[in-house]
Amino acid sequence: MNILILGSGGREHTFAYKLAESANCDKLFVAPGNAGTAAIATNVALSVTDFEAVKNCVLENKIKMVVVGPEDPLVHGIADYFAENKELQGVMLIGPSKRGALLEGSKERAKEFMMQHNIPTAAYASFTKKSLDAGKQFLETLKAPYVLKADGLAAGKGVLILKDLQEAKQELENMLSHSKFGAASETVVIEEFLDGIELSVFVLTDGKNYKILPTAKDYKRIGEGDTGLNTGGMGAISPVPFANDVLMQKIEERIVKPSVLGLQKEKIDYKGFLFIGLIKVGDEPYVIEYNVRMGDPETEVVLPRIKTDLVNLLEATYHQTLNKIDVSIDDRAATTVMLVSGGYPEAYEKGKEISGISEISDSIVFHAGTTQKEGKVVTNGGRVLAVTSLDTDYKLALKKSYQNIAKLSFDRMYYRSDIGFDLF
Ligand code: AMP
Ligand code: GLY
Repeated sequence: MNILILGSGGREHTFAYKLAESANCDKLFVAPGNAGTAAIATNVALSVTDFEAVKNCVLENKIKMVVVGPEDPLVHGIADYFAENKELQGVMLIGPSKRGALLEGSKERAKEFMMQHNIPTAAYASFTKKSLDAGKQFLETLKAPYVLKADGLAAGKGVLILKDLQEAKQELENMLSHSKFGAASETVVIEEFLDGIELSVFVLTDGKNYKILPTAKDYKRIGEGDTGLNTGGMGAISPVPFANDVLMQKIEERIVKPSVLGLQKEKIDYKGFLFIGLIKVGDEPYVIEYNVRMGDPETEVVLPRIKTDLVNLLEATYHQTLNKIDVSIDDRAATTVMLVSGGYPEAYEKGKEISGISEISDSIVFHAGTTQKEGKVVTNGGRVLAVTSLDTDYKLALKKSYQNIAKLSFDRMYYRSDIGFDLF
């Protein structure tokens, strides 16, 4: 069948790489894609939130399956658009409905869902401009540090963790009364701070059945030792070494099962990935957030470990037959290290020529922010390449990624040399 992937990052290149391996994939399209996807698929220049353009692309190219990479089109209802459009009947769109996507699109909604279905998470209360004073009083009842979260999508920047009470009150006011994060902070969730170590669990669900995919841990800060500004992610490791059977059992029973059951009870159409951000406090798992898509760069370590044909897996997701398919996982560990443009996550330049990619054979170079210009591959974003390696354990895999990074270069290339540092 012909397949279309929506998105343009390392996540989407990884999806393209895995789908292209399948005997069931005929023509593969990526919209808008990058220089990496252009080498294995056909890039289509369109905006992923322009549903009519997506529809035209699907019809023109006789596409049978659409895999949605980022959250934006999901939160804007692309699954509902496909379900309601006569010409698109039978096209298998992988991604939740708008109501499902609200688990990521609204932090308040996600917290209500967790409360409703008894899923362990930090205690919270939410406030608007009208209840600013009550919000400040609520902060006084908590212990530092204070966690403030803009309710809506804020490009990963909407969470503030503050040590000082006065500063927390001021930031609450900035968010609610001075639109610090625009419309996203019209409602703010204030949460109890949880002290522990983070990990992510990825679930593929057809709305009834589910499969737990490999775990991963990402490294979000720009600086070594997890310092400095938040980024989309500077590297990742899979599996998470401390996610042993006992912890995974707790996660499945207390979090994964009630989440999928909750979707069913609330009659929410959900055929896609559920990315659960967790924190382990002592030996107990708590949910920090839901995302309604795969993570980036987590996809770059999770998908390469899945041995089952990905087209078959996604087809079963669409047809709600995930219970009839086994997911086989590569025992090896996978690591990825992101190469970013100097200045990222703040201002950076684009259009820098990248060299060395063709010299690498024992790691996979996934493209993120790249494009082709005059026959050359050049940088086209903050996160540029993800260098993924597989080996018997994550230390060996990391060693391979770093050895290969030495062969790559572009002007002002930067990466963290301490991915996995907290696990050694
Ligand atoms: P989120 O966007 O909800 O994933 O939050 C961004 C980051 O803030 C998370 O990855 C955590 O590192 C941190 N965080 C969020 N909520 C809490 C919490 N309740 N306690 C401690 N850290 C948190
Ligand atoms: N790496 C975090 C995310 O994709 O949200």
